[in-house]
Parts: sequence; C-alpha cells; structure tokens
Amino acid sequence: MTADLVIVGSGFFGLTIAEQAASELGLKVVVIDRRHHVGGNAYSETEEQTGIEVHRYGAHLFHTSNERVWEYVNRFTTFTNYVHKVYGVHKGEVYSLPINLATINQFFRANLTPGDARALIQEQAGELAGTDPQNLNDKGIQLIGRPLYEAFIKHYTGKQWQTDPKDLPAGIISRLPVRYNYDNRYFNDKYEGLPTNGYTAWIEKMAEHPNIDVRLNTDFFDESHEYSREKVVGKIPVVYTGPVDRYFDFVAGDLSWRTIDFEQEVLEVGDFQGTSVLNYNDVDVPYTRIIEPRHFHPERDYQTEKTVIMREFSRFAEKGDEPYYPVNTADDREKLLKYRDLAAAEKSVLFGGRLGTYKYLDMHMAIGSALSMFDNKIRPHFESGTAFE
Ligand code: FDA
Repeated sequence: MTADLVIVGSGFFGLTIAEQAASELGLKVVVIDRRHHVGGNAYSETEEQTGIEVHRYGAHLFHTSNERVWEYVNRFTTFTNYVHKVYGVHKGEVYSLPINLATINQFFRANLTPGDARALIQEQAGELAGTDPQNLNDKGIQLIGRPLYEAFIKHYTGKQWQTDPKDLPAGIISRLPVRYNYDNRYFNDKYEGLPTNGYTAWIEKMAEHPNIDVRLNTDFFDESHEYSREKVVGKIPVVYTGPVDRYFDFVAGDLSWRTIDFEQEVLEVGDFQGTSVLNYNDVDVPYTRIIEPRHFHPERDYQTEKTVIMREFSRFAEKGDEPYYPVNTADDREKLLKYRDLAAAEKSVLFGGRLGTYKYLDMHMAIGSALSMFDNKIRPHFESGTAFE
C-alpha cells in the first residue's frame, strides 16, 4: 500500500499516533521498527521454562492520573488491581520504601509519631541547613539528613550512576520523598494496574486496525527498503521516534544515556523473594535491584516449582547499547538545543517519544504527548492542510 503517514518506531508513542491516524482520519499508516517485535521498551514475552511474563526491557508498571490517557488505554486492555510496592535491603535487613514511617521507625528502632519523625529528620537535615550544596551527596544530606541518606540513597544512587555521589551534580535530585505515615504505595497516581493479558496483547491490539501496516526488522536508515529516510522524507509525512542525534548523523555530537544490563535466571524455587522488586541499597552488592516478575500477576495460575528473576546492573551506555535514561549533562543540553533547531527545520518530519525528544517519559506521558501531537499537528494537517511541523 502507499502510505499517507510513515511512523518510525512501534513504541507507545508511535502506536498511539498510528492508531489515531488510522481510526480517526482513515489514513493508511506504515509503522516500521528495527526490532523484531512491536511495543518498544514496554514489550514483554513469556519466559519458556516457567511460562512467566517477563518485561524484556525492565519492569513496566502502568500508572496515571490523566483521565484522557486512562480512558484511551482502556480501549485496548483491562487492568489488574496490582499496586506497586518496593522494598530495600540495607545491612541485612529489609525495609519498606520509599522512606516512610515504617522505614524510619525500623531504622531508628523507635516508635515515633509522624510529628516526632518530622522533627527528627528536620534536625538531622539541619547539618547542612543554609548551605548551597554543590554535589548530590551534600544535597541528599540537606534534604533528609545523613543517616537515612547514607543508608537508602547514597550507595543506590552511586550504583545507578557508577559514580560517587560526591562527584554527581546536586541538580540530579530536587527532592527525596519521605512520608510521615505508613503509606508505602510506590506511585501516587489515581489509576494503577498491569494489563490483564500482558503488555504485548495490549500493544498488538493498538496496531490491529486494517489501515496499519507494521514492518518489523526494518531500520529507517537502511536504504534497502521502500520506507527508508532516503525514500520517504520530503515525500510522505513522517513521525520519527528513534534517537534524535542518530537522525542527524550525530552532527552535534552524541547525546549520553545510561543503560541497564539484565541478568536473568530461572530458579528451582516457587518464590524467591516474596515480592516483585527488592532494591539492594548497599555498596557491597553490585546490582541495584532484583525483579521477580511472577509477583506482578498474583492472580495468574503460574507454576509453583520454578520462578524467574532479573538482576539489574546500571551503567553508562556506549554506542550500540540500549539507551534507557538520558544523562542530561550541561553538555547534553547544549547539543539537544542544536538538535531541536535542526528538527524544527526538518519540514515533513515530527519528532516524538522518549528517544526523539531525549526525555525520560513514563508510558502514560508518552501516550499523552502522542495524543497531543495528533490533535495539534497531525489532524490539522490532514483535515485543513496546515503545515506538518
Ligand atoms: P520506545 O523506546 O518504547 O520506542 C521507540 C521504538 O523506536 C523502539 O521500538 C525502537 O526499536 C524504534 N526505533 C528506534 N530507532 C529506529 C530506527 N532507526 N528504525 C526503526 N525503528 C527504530 N514507564 C512507566 O510508565 N512505568 C514503568 O515502570 C517504566 N519502567 C521503565 C523501565 C526502564 C528500564 C525504562 C528504560 C523505561 C521505563 N518506562 C516506564 C518508560 C517506558 O519504557 C516509555 O514510556 C516508553 O517506552 C516510551 O515509548 P516510546 O514510543 O517513546 O519509546
């Protein structure tokens, strides 16, 4: 078919645009993805030995307070009533996270009231009160006091960045959540849950419209196919959700990212850790956390003889690695401004999604921003002939 619109990337951003363009405007849409599957980083698959759904690119928990996004995603899947909670190991003990009254009372071996705890943390944070912290370490101490910072934040953050927090900019954190009650729900959003039949079923449903043609194992920059950059830019409108620096052949330099190495293991035990996510807050354990995906779906009838776990090791990405979290140094921000100018001048191509904008986006943010792009740019272009920019 001849496409009216070409979309590069079948993650939530690209598929939301594709679905809306096909169902709302009747457009013929070609979606290409260089991977062998749809869904971008939200893709999940069944681990063969256990039958357990594994999130291939890291744990994905859906949550949102955006009514429009919630209504939209419910067209394609129902959600379980899963509520995300995280625990962390420090010096051989398991604590409830994010830091809340249970964490504080266990850590200080106390039974503080909310008011007592607030006063204590304020006193401890007073160590650096009135100073202007120049690194993440001092900022952390100023926010929540040295004892809690050193136990729960310092080494975990150091492992995430492979850098001593004394050498990290203070600006990486603006606040550290401390709850002076026993609420240990990880997310504060109005809606939360996991897709009942898994991420891939949800994602495939979004791509189901007969006007959507998905082509996998197809790289936009590979000239051997009919929807390559060379062949479509300037001829067919394009929504590009790949890395923005790659699109411009890295002319302004490489944007830097952190990545995660996942070490997956099947264990001959029904339940390894009793919960889905266990952080390792101390420096002597090289990984940041262990995910046990069976706990994302307690309602499923998974086998009880084996389980699967994933250890996560965080590091700076090199060329060829999966880009996960923007590092966002001052140098990166300068490069990004140049790429934004280039993108604005690239008529007939819209840049979106986490890679196309170099921004960490949760799933609901990627979907919300795709819906806005559709309303504000794509619909007006195809209905009223406004410029595609
Ligand atoms: P996404 O990266 O998903 O899709 C982009 C697609 O473009 C990819 O499929 C890629 O292959 C394709 N592509 C790139 N270059 C191409 C080229 N040259 N040619 C063809 N195709 C190309 N969110 C949340 O709400 N809850 C959570 O718990 C988590 N957890 C989480 C963990 C980790 C480790 C990460 C990195 C991210 C999360 N997220 C998350 C965020 C979530 O993954 C994110 O919101 C979506 O992936 C964004 O969708 P996009 O479509 O923008 O990008």
